[in-house]
Amino acid sequence: MARINDNYLKLSAGYLFPEISRRVNAFQRSHPGASLIRLGIGDVVLPLPGAVVSAMHDAVDEMGSESGFRGYGPEQGYEFLREAIADNDYRSRGVDIAVDEIFVSDGSKCDSGNIQEIFAGEALVAIPDPVYPVYLDTNVMAGRSGKASEDGSYEGIVYLPCTEDNAFLPEPPQQPVDIVYLCFPNNPTGSVARRTDLESWVAYARDCGAVLLYDSAYEAYISEQDVPHSIFEIEGARDVAIEFRSFSKSAGFTGTRCAYVVVPRSLEGRAADGSAVSLHQLWNRRHCTKFNGVSYPVQAGAAAVYTDQGQREVRERVDYYMANAAHIRRSLSESGLGVYGGVNAPYVWVKTPEGLGSWDFFDHLLESTHVVGTPGAGFGSCGEGYFRLSAFAKAEQVEEAMTRIRTKL
Ligand code: MLT
Repeated sequence: MARINDNYLKLSAGYLFPEISRRVNAFQRSHPGASLIRLGIGDVVLPLPGAVVSAMHDAVDEMGSESGFRGYGPEQGYEFLREAIADNDYRSRGVDIAVDEIFVSDGSKCDSGNIQEIFAGEALVAIPDPVYPVYLDTNVMAGRSGKASEDGSYEGIVYLPCTEDNAFLPEPPQQPVDIVYLCFPNNPTGSVARRTDLESWVAYARDCGAVLLYDSAYEAYISEQDVPHSIFEIEGARDVAIEFRSFSKSAGFTGTRCAYVVVPRSLEGRAADGSAVSLHQLWNRRHCTKFNGVSYPVQAGAAAVYTDQGQREVRERVDYYMANAAHIRRSLSESGLGVYGGVNAPYVWVKTPEGLGSWDFFDHLLESTHVVGTPGAGFGSCGEGYFRLSAFAKAEQVEEAMTRIRTKL
């Protein structure tokens, strides 16, 4: 028998969302008449924007013609899309990102999971708690942790607790680390980092030589003026940060797949002999070896997001989901529950009623209201006692879910 990667055996449970689906499917089998409302996984429900659809149609027609057919594209993405990204997502905010610092990909889940490959096996990793599980699980798989303890936390990982006391904002650790994962607007808590928060992270990273892995997949949901949209808005960040962005939640690409990573040319890591190495070069090497690029029609669709029509349609979608978030916040707080997030993010982080753990609340909510959410404990031990509701649903479903919660919980 072939030897396996034993690190996989350290993983405490199945990946969170399949585990939720398993429980929900079991519930549905035993309650075939129940009409479920899914506010669990953050998956969009509105169709692709019209501008995206017509650009994709045109691209498919082009690919079906002798003159317009294209085979393999550049692994890093077509220039037309990378130019549009650099102009609209960065230069328009006064941030200078070069086209060749952008790597187009098939999703931020893959990017934020794969990035750890360019760091040493013994790199010390700091991870907020609660957190999007991909950051932690991929480092456990790569052998950067010891065993899991009872509460699901792993030896060898530096956890950054995010609690009510610190407004769910991780603080730089007392010790130096090699890599730090940050996600703002945050999944799952919906918290946001202001400029001064990000400045202290950049100062920390510059001080100890850490790299910040900044997941900004929910950037389109920022509604407040003083919240930076990119880590690169902070002076000095180009030397210490990598940023992940996605078209999934803004333009509805969860099923279509398109995202990108920004790795500045000035960002360096350290080899075993102490010499400085370009992380841009390492990521480019990895990307070209393991990835053949996002399909042309999908990249053409992503580029259409930056047209006037595309921007208008994205805004309509974001506003629609954020109206859901406002409704969830209002309703639950009127029901006496503590609510956080949902202002600059499509997630509402809810304190479970006294004495109920996250998974107990999940079961209770499912059984009494047939509403599906995500137990906070699934995002880490500091998520225990919390519950996440996603605003990615049809408005009438949110309305119905809130009525059921108000009347039946
Ligand atoms: C979530 O529900 O946390 C997201 O859907 C996860 C993801 O984007 O992969």
